[in-house]
Amino acid sequence: MKRIFNPLIFSILFGLSLISCQNNAKKKKVESVSSEQLAKEISENLPGQTAEIVHPGKAVYTKYCLTCHQADGSGVPGMHPPLGPGSWAGKDPKELIAIMMKGLSGKIEVNGEIYKGFMPSHAQLTDQEIADVLSYMRSSFGNSFDPVDAELVKKVRSGK
Ligand code: HEC
Repeated sequence: MKRIFNPLIFSILFGLSLISCQNNAKKKKVESVSSEQLAKEISENLPGQTAEIVHPGKAVYTKYCLTCHQADGSGVPGMHPPLGPGSWAGKDPKELIAIMMKGLSGKIEVNGEIYKGFMPSHAQLTDQEIADVLSYMRSSFGNSFDPVDAELVKKVRSGK
């Protein structure tokens, strides 16, 4: 009796625990937390630690834009235009997204300087990465423009 009974109990318990795991997994929806909230949490829970908030677009910028536009967005004179105040960073987000999709070449003027360079397309980045990197650019290098939404990137990408 004992021998039959134990595996039976075991399998019932095992089944129950699987079900409860699944329920837990469903409950654990990841909530998005703003960077301000995160900074507050860190400074409250780890007194003495300074919470350096890193913009999600910074990593994208560092990987895909920094070599040409430089870490501080100052660009390279005569080659790669700057991205700070007076640049195209404050343009209509749709235009900026279009530049990410198609790249940019031909004669342009930024801050009174003429550039005749070539910027490659960055259409390989995800909607979120493009939104993040443009938002980062628009809030860094002395800029303070509104962030760009991934939904808008999706729209422009699909030509709507
Ligand atoms: C290979 C070098 C290169 C890379 C990489 C590059 N750019 Fe550019 N970018 C340029 C050049 C060159 C121009 C000007 C093109 C022209 O002269 O027509 C430009 C123009 C721009 C402009 C419009 C002009 C201005 O300065 O305001 C923006 C905005 C911009 N780039 C943002 C970015 C962002 C964001 C990334 C990363 C996702 C990026 N670029 C990656 C070379 C680059």
